Order: sequence, then structure tokens, then C-alpha cells
Amino acid sequence: MSLVVARTIAQARALVAEARRQGRSIEFVPTMGALHEGHGSLMDLARRPQGFLVVSIFVNPIQFDRADDYERYPRTLEADVEFCRRRGVDLVFAPSIEEMYPQPQRAFVEVTGLTEHLCGRFRPGHFRGVATVVTKLFGIVQPDRAYFGEKDAQQLAVVRRMVRDLNMPVEIVACPTVREADGLAMSSRNGRLSPAERSAASAIYRALQAAAAQVRAGARDPAVVRRAGLALLQAEPLLRPEYFDIVDPEEIQPVLMIESEVLIACAAWAGTTRLIDSLRATPPLNA
Ligand code: PAF
Repeated sequence: MSLVVARTIAQARALVAEARRQGRSIEFVPTMGALHEGHGSLMDLARRPQGFLVVSIFVNPIQFDRADDYERYPRTLEADVEFCRRRGVDLVFAPSIEEMYPQPQRAFVEVTGLTEHLCGRFRPGHFRGVATVVTKLFGIVQPDRAYFGEKDAQQLAVVRRMVRDLNMPVEIVACPTVREADGLAMSSRNGRLSPAERSAASAIYRALQAAAAQVRAGARDPAVVRRAGLALLQAEPLLRPEYFDIVDPEEIQPVLMIESEVLIACAAWAGTTRLIDSLRATPPLNA
């Protein structure tokens, strides 16, 4: 079957229902478009022999804490549909704002605790917007499996917890971060970087690696690990670090002592573009 683009919820539901009648599983990759190889790798993992692959493309206004960021977010629907066609997607669901939010949204989904630190601290309302739109999309697509990138580690933890706590019948599949040759995590926002900012941005991955190396070498004090990473970020004049933290990977709470696997996560501004990335690291057994 060739790719179909559905602009309405009714059309998307009808196509998904038909696929189910044919005995196909529903595999779902939610996106905000401006697709790149990172999304491509999610689609590759989501493509299954008896699967019906759905990709949503929707720039969700309620997860943006800054109006300028929402307005400047890249919108490249035509190229995205072509990208999906090449990747063997069956259905692109690309609703309008009016279709998704026909009236002021009064019901929201909030995941507490996990959203207090990292991005949640600096982007008020962001994860409430993500959890709410993902719940709406799950209600529309009713997938068997949904695929999320590990790059957005806090988002992944929030969605996993939401699904578990609310007994949603969907399996969340975590997909490894895809990186450029110099280590920069692929992101729809990378295209907004000037050449100088783009080159500076590779320090983010180097900083995470330096911090992860400390953990793997047995450093137990998160302050020591943090300093090792931050030093590399701060040495880069075109980057303004927002946070660089060592947290528990499931609860997203700062750790007092590194005794098991941790998530090292950071956000930094390059000009007017905010970049995030993270790595997991496990201390040696004898630390
Ligand atoms: O990661 C994203 O692109 C978005 O946060 C998501 C999950 C599609 C919700 O709008």
C-alpha cells in the first residue's frame, strides 16, 4: 500500500481500523516534523513485516514555553512526507491546530516528580504539553508500540511513567540517539545553527563523554563528574550551558552519590538555539 496523508482524526482512525482488520500491528512514531536521520532510525526500528507504520507530524503549541520558539520551529511538511515515503511509512497523520485543539484544552496530563529537574526546571509546562499531546495521539492512533528517541531522555522517562501509571495499552520502545560525525545529536533544531555555532555545538557530546568517563572510572561524587563536563562546555565561548546534571535515569532526581547507572544530561544555548543531549553511564562494580 502506498503512503496516505491524513489531515483529520476521523480519516486517521478509519485507516488504522482497516489495518487492524487486516491483522496488522500498529507501530507509531510521533514527531513534530523537520525530519532527519534520527527520526529515520525510529522509523527503521518501527517498520515490521506485519506492521502498519504511522508517523504523526504536528508542531504541538502547548509544549512550547516560548512563543518565539514555537513560531520559529521548522515546518517542512512536503519534504517530511517524501522522507516518510522513502522510509516505508504507511500513514502520515498531519493534523491542523484546529483539528487537534478545536476548543480551548481543559484536560491535561501531568507527570509529577520526573518533571521537576533538567528541562522541566527551565521549561515550565513543557512536559504537561508533551504528556497531553502524546495521550491525545495515542487515543487517536491506538498503537501497539510507540517509538521515542533516547536523546530526549527526560521525555522518554515521562512518557514511560505516564503509560505505566495510567495503564495505557501501548509498549514504549526506546531508540538510540543518532549522532553526526563529530558527535552532535541529530535534532530538528540543528538547522538553525550558524556554521560557527554548529562547530561549537560538538563540545556538548565531548562534555558528556568526559563526564561519563569519570563515572566509568569510579568517581562517586556527582559534583566532580559535573565539573569535568561543565569545564568543556564553558571553554566554548559560543555555548551558554543551561544545566549539566547527574540524575537517576528513571526518577530524574539528582543523585547524592553515584552507586548505579546514572543519566548525565545537559542543555546549552548556541545563540538563540537550545540544544539538549544526554548519556547513560554505569560505575565500575568495585567503585
Ligand atoms: O519529541 C517530539 O518530537 C515531541 O515532543 C512529541 C513526542 C512528538 C510530542 O509533540
